[in-house]
Amino acid sequence: MQQQKIIILDFGSQTTQLIARRLRELDTFCEILPYNKFPTDDPDVIGVILSGSPYSVHDPEAFRVDLSQFVGRVPVLGICYGAQFISHTLGGRVEKADSREYGRAHLETVDTGNPLFKGFEKDSQVWMSHGDTITAIPDGFEVIGSTKDVTNAAFWSGDKIVNSKSSNSKSVWGVQFHPEVFHTLQGTLLLKNFVVDICGSRQDWSPANFVETTVAELREQIGDDRVILGLSGGVDSTVCAVLLNRAIGNHLTCIFVDHGMLRKNEFKNVMKDYECLGLNVIGVDASKRFFADLDGVTEPEQKRKIIGRDFIEVFNAEAQKIVNSKSSNSKCSWLAQGTIYPDRIESLNITGKVIKSHHNVGGLPKEMNLKLCEPLKWLFKDEVRRVGRQLGIPEHLIGRHPFPGPGLAVRILGAITPEKVRILQEADDIFIQGLRDWGLYDQIWQAGAILLSDVRSVGVMGDERTYENPVALRAVTSTDAMTADWAHLPYEFMAKVSNDIINKVKGVNRVCYDISSKPPSTIEWE
Ligand code: XMP
Repeated sequence: MQQQKIIILDFGSQTTQLIARRLRELDTFCEILPYNKFPTDDPDVIGVILSGSPYSVHDPEAFRVDLSQFVGRVPVLGICYGAQFISHTLGGRVEKADSREYGRAHLETVDTGNPLFKGFEKDSQVWMSHGDTITAIPDGFEVIGSTKDVTNAAFWSGDKIVNSKSSNSKSVWGVQFHPEVFHTLQGTLLLKNFVVDICGSRQDWSPANFVETTVAELREQIGDDRVILGLSGGVDSTVCAVLLNRAIGNHLTCIFVDHGMLRKNEFKNVMKDYECLGLNVIGVDASKRFFADLDGVTEPEQKRKIIGRDFIEVFNAEAQKIVNSKSSNSKCSWLAQGTIYPDRIESLNITGKVIKSHHNVGGLPKEMNLKLCEPLKWLFKDEVRRVGRQLGIPEHLIGRHPFPGPGLAVRILGAITPEKVRILQEADDIFIQGLRDWGLYDQIWQAGAILLSDVRSVGVMGDERTYENPVALRAVTSTDAMTADWAHLPYEFMAKVSNDIINKVKGVNRVCYDISSKPPSTIEWE
């Protein structure tokens, strides 16, 4: 059966990804594409959503799309700018609102007989965020929802545009509010009405279905070849490896590089976990080389560059051995990566098109001629976790906090030495273990300790005066690491952790807690 999909055309709104998240929660597959990249030749598209935008339809540089590519072929829903663009283009009128319409409003009239509003309550709360307003809808369209200040809050084209090949309506809807945001209380219902009742989604985008179809596709794609994958201990690469392992078994070889700046016992523990999962993993302890190359380096960017370069060289050397291996008849021709959807979404910003680059293993020499295999490339982070659970990966691997590729190197301020890494590992371990013991770990996006190795302060332990380093603790809440707030940890917990670190970790005599949010700070200190 073909994979149905909804296309979300992105006009640059900050909430475009949120629309996609909501549809995925409705077990419906969707793709976000730049406003001018509608795939006219894709038969699997069952509906189109036009997002909001920072522009006014009257701005000369506003993004415009040729509606005839999909209007009349599949159902269309315009949200905010999307609704204004439809109205403006099809003969309605859009004007600057007397005052910006922003925040809570209520649908004082709503046509619950319309399929988009099935099940809606009167006075349902919606969230507005626009500077322009639709003062006249196009001829032939009907208003189906109004708030106190916005008469044309929702409208549709009526059931006139019908494609006889299908029983589904091919009408056009527009809403000036944002159904995707939390404050539109029946927003999910509206989106469900659109994608399920109107577009006919089968709601079959589920982890079980994903695993089944992806395993079949991987077998087909890879055949008898062999695949190399770089493991980091993180969720994405682990799920990617287990999925591939299910598809091609020991034709998958994983490489896990220890650069010496992992968490305490991380290399050993993660290797054990991977073995339990039945993965074929080569663990490479390259810590000596990394420490030698980092000797005396204090500048953060330079540290990152050295680690990035060494990592690629170590990984390449191992990959080359596998590619050249004569022990098997089949050819190693694939490099797999745990790239996920947010790493690749082509998002727009108002200064032009921005294509996000992602920081997975890059820079493999061209001579190796490896093709790229990215089985998680359509998934959001929480979907990766759901797929991981479906594959039977244990919870302690699925629920792990993100951890930066360069590891504790970005958490030691000043030159890096094995001794400083050891001190930081001990402090970090007490903190993280404490979060687990107190049931706080899962409430936090990410946590860790930072060693201020160039700062020393005076302390007193027993009868002795100490002159040692401080450790800063950082714990943040976030949904995507783009913004973050410091976690409000209980004082009793902080007192216990501080006490344990100072008493147990030789070299540390002071513990501070970082109370900065991002922005203006960042999560890592570097
Ligand atoms: P910042 O410090 O920019 O971090 O607020 C945002 C998120 O990215 C992680 N991070 C990295 N992850 N390689 C990675 O794989 C890196 O070089 C890197 N630098 C930062 C950081 O831990 C946080 O989750």
